[in-house]
Amino acid sequence: VTKTQYIYLDHAAATPIDEEVVKVMGPYFTQDFYNPSATYLPAIKIKQVLEEARTKVAFWLGAKPSEIIFTAGASEANNLAIQGIMKRYPEGNLVYSAIEHESVIEPSRQFNSKQIKVKSDGRIDMDDLKQKIDDKTVLVSVMQANNEIGTVEPLHDIARLIGQIKDLRRQAKNSLPLFFHTDATQAANYLDLHANRLGVDLMSLNGGKIYGPKQTGVLYVKSGIDLEPLIYGGGQERGLRSGTENVAGFYGLATALDIAQTSRHEESERLSVLQANFIDLLQKASPDIQINGSIKYRLPNNVHIILPGKDNERLLLELEEKGILAAAGSACSASNEESSHVLKAIGKTDDEARSSLRLTMGRATSIEYIEKTVQAITSLT
Ligand SMILES: Cc1ncc(COP(=O)(O)O)c(C=O)c1O
Repeated sequence: VTKTQYIYLDHAAATPIDEEVVKVMGPYFTQDFYNPSATYLPAIKIKQVLEEARTKVAFWLGAKPSEIIFTAGASEANNLAIQGIMKRYPEGNLVYSAIEHESVIEPSRQFNSKQIKVKSDGRIDMDDLKQKIDDKTVLVSVMQANNEIGTVEPLHDIARLIGQIKDLRRQAKNSLPLFFHTDATQAANYLDLHANRLGVDLMSLNGGKIYGPKQTGVLYVKSGIDLEPLIYGGGQERGLRSGTENVAGFYGLATALDIAQTSRHEESERLSVLQANFIDLLQKASPDIQINGSIKYRLPNNVHIILPGKDNERLLLELEEKGILAAAGSACSASNEESSHVLKAIGKTDDEARSSLRLTMGRATSIEYIEKTVQAITSLT
């Protein structure tokens, strides 16, 4: 099978760069290569391009350009958010959901932290959250949408609860702040990212999942929030992220975000239809197939199934032989032997986790691809 013949169903792991994005990035690798901190006119123009990228990103978040910090991906943005806050408040603790990406979980474990349970549909357990936030909690981190099962989390409800807790703290003269961070990596192609509407103080984005370049990301930091940097040096990105800016990459990310957010309603509708067909065809062909995660609160590109009694590693190889690329869990943890912490958190057994497949659609996915994939999956079962 040549590359162009693959049916690619792993868009949660990586997306191809949009051709328009490649085109607009081009000049910043070659004739417009200048360091944006240099003082001559061509470099000042590059600095303006960087600020144009920042303004584009800020627009979609309903933010000020000064609230946008460019990073090398979402792992870095998540680390900057968590380490950045927690190092400022060493007396504080943080809470995070049990289904966060490793780049939230691992830095959180370096500090005084607690995991919040999710319900069997993958949505946060609001009672558990309420219980686990105490007088010393300074940060709540809950992703906007999960990378494995596609569950969309109730950020508005969480923000409302945080608001109530902040009111109580004011009355009790507890001056410790309480910030809300969300990892919007998987949401940015499909959902509203307006930070104030969502009620978040910090938000991570990832260029590599929105048809932009890998190793580019954003941390939105609401003005007034003081973070400890991860990287010290020349003081770029308001001192929060030193290092010569990746102008090509950040301009690419901003352009990709523009395209994704402009087309998000249309693309979400298109994929929702495909998703419903996908699930319907699978269940008709093989009634014992189960769907993991909420159907209602779900990204439109995600289908995550259990094929009872099957071994997903073997299934993936057999699908690849048929030209179909999918995933067993999250790509980042695919190389280690442990079963997915996300499936465990929604109450799935190790056997069920080992029989699970993640199929994530994208711009190139058509109904023909879905029909072929269903045929392939059911011929294996
Ligand atoms: C929800 C989520 N957060 C963070 C990341 C980390 O992104 P990166 O590896 O590009 O830093 C990923 C990537 O898989 C993700 O899906």
